[in-house]
Amino acid sequence: MSRTLFVTTALPYANGPFHIGHIMEYIQADIWVRFQRMRGNTVHFVGADDAHGAPIMIAAEKAGKTPQEFVAEIAGGRKQYLDGFHISFDNWHSTDSPENTELSQDIYRKLKAKGLIATKTIEQFYDPVKGMFLPDRYIKGECPVCHSQDQYGDACEVCSSVYAPTELISPYSTLTGAAPVMKSSEHYFFKLSDPQCVDFLKSWTGGERLQSQVANKAREWLEGDSGLADWDISRDEPYFGIPIPDAPGKYFYVWLDAPVGYLASLKNYCARAGIDFAALLKDPETEQIHFIGKDIIYFHTLFWPAMLKFADYKVPDRVYVHGFMTVKSEKMSKSRGTGISPLKYLAIGMNAEWLRYYIAAKLNSNVEDVDFIPDDFIARVNSDLIGKYVNIASRCAGFVTKKFGGKLDAPQFSPEITAAYSGAAAEIAAFYETREYGKAARKIMELADLANQYVDANKPWELAKQAGQEAQLHAVCSTALALFRELTLYLKPILPHLAEQAEKLLNVAPMAWSDAWKPLAAGHQINAYTHLMARVDPKLLDTLLPPEEAAEPAPAKAVAKAAAKPATKAEAKPADAAGAGLISIDDFAKVDLRIARIVNAEHVEGAEKLIKITLDVGEEKPRTVFAGIKSAYDPGTLIGKHTVMVANLAPRKMKFGLSEGMILAASDPAGKHPGLFILQPHQGALPGMKVK
Ligand code: 2FM
Ligand code: ZN
Repeated sequence: MSRTLFVTTALPYANGPFHIGHIMEYIQADIWVRFQRMRGNTVHFVGADDAHGAPIMIAAEKAGKTPQEFVAEIAGGRKQYLDGFHISFDNWHSTDSPENTELSQDIYRKLKAKGLIATKTIEQFYDPVKGMFLPDRYIKGECPVCHSQDQYGDACEVCSSVYAPTELISPYSTLTGAAPVMKSSEHYFFKLSDPQCVDFLKSWTGGERLQSQVANKAREWLEGDSGLADWDISRDEPYFGIPIPDAPGKYFYVWLDAPVGYLASLKNYCARAGIDFAALLKDPETEQIHFIGKDIIYFHTLFWPAMLKFADYKVPDRVYVHGFMTVKSEKMSKSRGTGISPLKYLAIGMNAEWLRYYIAAKLNSNVEDVDFIPDDFIARVNSDLIGKYVNIASRCAGFVTKKFGGKLDAPQFSPEITAAYSGAAAEIAAFYETREYGKAARKIMELADLANQYVDANKPWELAKQAGQEAQLHAVCSTALALFRELTLYLKPILPHLAEQAEKLLNVAPMAWSDAWKPLAAGHQINAYTHLMARVDPKLLDTLLPPEEAAEPAPAKAVAKAAAKPATKAEAKPADAAGAGLISIDDFAKVDLRIARIVNAEHVEGAEKLIKITLDVGEEKPRTVFAGIKSAYDPGTLIGKHTVMVANLAPRKMKFGLSEGMILAASDPAGKHPGLFILQPHQGALPGMKVK
């Protein structure tokens, strides 16, 4: 019986372009969706931008745009990625939409009618200069435990202690630098601690819906000592979000309306496609499936199902959780991005299907990270896709065209091939269904090996030279192409574009799963072979992931090195100073150190280590500096801070632009204490002041 599937991927924040982690998730979901469509199931596959929240509001303000303009610009950039990687969403929408407002408010009203909304007055840090309550991430100060400076409001990055922002010593707002004050306000809570919510979630997480690791995690949260706390779903204005009905000045916290965006996108799609949204959602046969990353399990296995359940909506049928994408075993950070830029990948001419295949070959149904290893990528794509799959067609199709007018003969399968291929589609389907794509790829390559062994054993290129071997040549090539057709069908969810080209070559209509093991009849006409896929040139990987960027070394180390560098003859100073690695006061005076205010800080597309920083040094024009501090800082958190810069360093032309100075940061040269810490003057220092 055919299934109706409503499939989503996590909604990306509309404050930046897609990173490779997003693309990996979309590829995972897209393979599943394409497989389901090939099975004849009805799939509604939707995505949207997660547009609301304080960070986006603040980013828009910094960019001098309204939040709506800001997110619209981000949304405009999505298509090139989605098309580029062959992601077949039926719809892409936004949480800042009429549908989402209506649905979120409806859900809220129903929860309220059930007595599941409570209000409570809470005290929170407030930035008196900005006139807004401060989310924890916008508060920094001295760690109450280890006394490290500039630690976030919720946890210390140096000693890993977790605390409340109110425990920070000398807290300050990262937005204005002002000392925050405590201010109280009424907040709205979803009463998750209500026994009916807890009971529902215990049963919902107990079924087959979740991977066992995920279910265990959810149960730990549910059954932990402190149980489930009520969830604060309101934020005070100014906030970019959806107004809470009958609560002037209050907005839904972004995580309340974000998952509702799944429904909003579906609703928007249904209206355009002439589908009855309400009926679709009401139908118990409709399966609701969310693909997400391991960092947002909490929201999707507790808050979201409970919201839906008690607002009388359909609850999710499955939540499929994947791990992160790492590059050469390095963890990627959402805020910092990672070594692979998806746009650069496409721009330098790398084939999207190489990545789709590589990711598929490494994915399984568990919550495991997928590591991108360049040599492994080259080997897998070249040996599997080119060496095993494409190779079959490229060695046989030409003979059929040249010698037999493009007409196929009846295939002649050996008992071994028949045994291996005839039941393969069912086995591979089970792998796709359970997201065991790695197993599917391995199985398909085993089958491709058999096909190649058959070609190798029968050597069509030799038969073609021998008189009287035409019939044998015709049979061998037709058999090999029949196997190529089967392999194309199996690979199609992973390689939709390549499969389309192969279908053209074979002159067949788009294949469905039910076309498996139905070989083409004798006399079927194929088209002339055209190049199907190029091998990966290792040089492309060097371009994609430059081994070492032409980066400014970590600033503190640079200073240390400069100081230790022996003086040249011309600049030689008294032996006692230079000889001991010391410098004279005159030497030191040569370094023009100035207070600088960080006016802007941003990621550099394609740079592994650098942040581009714009500095006000009290001069007419701001300076640009590329600093190798990406591993330690999220650019947004630097804006507005004061620091110290070397203002008379000769400008350096770098790969990404001209660097007009250097900011100072401390690090442990022995590497025992990780981290990089930029200098910050005491309050009162102004841009341009000389440091001596
Ligand atoms: O973590 C994130 O990137 C969120 N924007 C995911 C939201 S998923 C869904 F709830 F919308
Ligand atoms: Zn600490």
